[in-house]
Amino acid sequence: MKLSAFGRKFAGSSGISELMDDLGAALNDNPDLLFMGGGNPGRIDAVQAIFARRLSDMLDDADRRHELLGLYQAPQGDLAFRRELATYLRKHQGWDLGPEHIAIANGSQSAFFLLYNLFAGPMGDGSQRRIHLPLSPEYVGYRDIGLGEEFFSAAAPRIERLEDGLFKYHLQLRSQGLDDDVAALCISRPSNPTGNVIGDDEVHELDCLARQHDVPLIIDGAYGLPFPGLVYAEAAPFWNDNTVLMLSLSKLGLPGARTGIVIARPDIAQAFSRANTVVSLACGTLGPRLLNGMLSDGSLQDLCSTVIQPYYRERRDLAVDLIRSRRGDLPVHLHRPEGAFFLWVWCEGLPMDSRELYRRLKERGVIVLPGNDFFIGTDPDWIHRQECLRISYAGDRETIEAGLKLTMDELHRAYRS
Ligand SMILES: Cc1ncc(COP(=O)(O)O)c(C=O)c1O
Repeated sequence: MKLSAFGRKFAGSSGISELMDDLGAALNDNPDLLFMGGGNPGRIDAVQAIFARRLSDMLDDADRRHELLGLYQAPQGDLAFRRELATYLRKHQGWDLGPEHIAIANGSQSAFFLLYNLFAGPMGDGSQRRIHLPLSPEYVGYRDIGLGEEFFSAAAPRIERLEDGLFKYHLQLRSQGLDDDVAALCISRPSNPTGNVIGDDEVHELDCLARQHDVPLIIDGAYGLPFPGLVYAEAAPFWNDNTVLMLSLSKLGLPGARTGIVIARPDIAQAFSRANTVVSLACGTLGPRLLNGMLSDGSLQDLCSTVIQPYYRERRDLAVDLIRSRRGDLPVHLHRPEGAFFLWVWCEGLPMDSRELYRRLKERGVIVLPGNDFFIGTDPDWIHRQECLRISYAGDRETIEAGLKLTMDELHRAYRS
């Protein structure tokens, strides 16, 4: 089989696909594994009940059912939803935008694929451009996204040690003289994998840097602002006409609806939709229709602030307490959990690679993710890359309690070995 550079990424085994295969096999062998590895949102009954009712209302009405199931959407996505979202963002954020700034996608993952490849890769003049990640570790779903090779450049963070065994990653903007081949900057806010939320001042600095280099700043807001708002620190939503804000309905509890949202200057939104038409023809109607009216009547914001955010906050506190109470004198530090639903655990001086720790934990029936693959574009010899774990606290309390007990026990063993 002869394959392009892109095809070759998937023919062999790369770190992450090998890990995913391994995870799938482990779950097949033992469906009772304590799973704290994935990006699945929590199962929140009150949220599911609301969307179930809305869905059943639509299915009971012949015209709405036809609109939901029987029609292709316009290429840029459901106009009523784009209007409602634009009105909401104008009113609550004061952003100067209309429906022409918004494009819908079948999940933000596929939107990233198109957007990144619109900006970076081989250029018309034979040169090559890259997406720059100003703070790596970053979302592992970006890793194999480039149609071309050497698709990313990245900067490692400055590590600030805080009290109570916490630490925080910061941008090292001063040292980031961007190369001429940078096509766009991208940051997840809140961060998957670390739960970091870069501060408003840092976002403004990134915005300035992007403008100086005449490239867009892409903010991946899958967990963030303005919805679902899984942010437990002071942080404001950010957008302007040099920003591409990527949102998703997945972490609201609707990953099955596959709905991503691109908010960008109209020329970018339009180029995106045209590319999306080639790939998908049209976008799914389910996500936009399920949300219909929930932005304008305030019920989405209420659901986020009274149900979804408290759910994750409570689990975050439970997970942090469990780790603290079992840490003893181990040099195990937690990234300050400011958003999303992951704990990022730095096991300083771990006497083995975190992949080995992952294997040992899997043997004992718990799945967490080794940190190595998230460090896209950073120095492979940086020892910190091998010392981190990502642990999801989105699941039920019993899983969190049992999974973290085993994890901490295994960590004590690992440091003794
Ligand atoms: C940071 C981040 N961005 C984007 C995505 C893609 O989400 P979706 O395609 O479900 O919108 C995910 C999924 O976990 C994510 O964690």
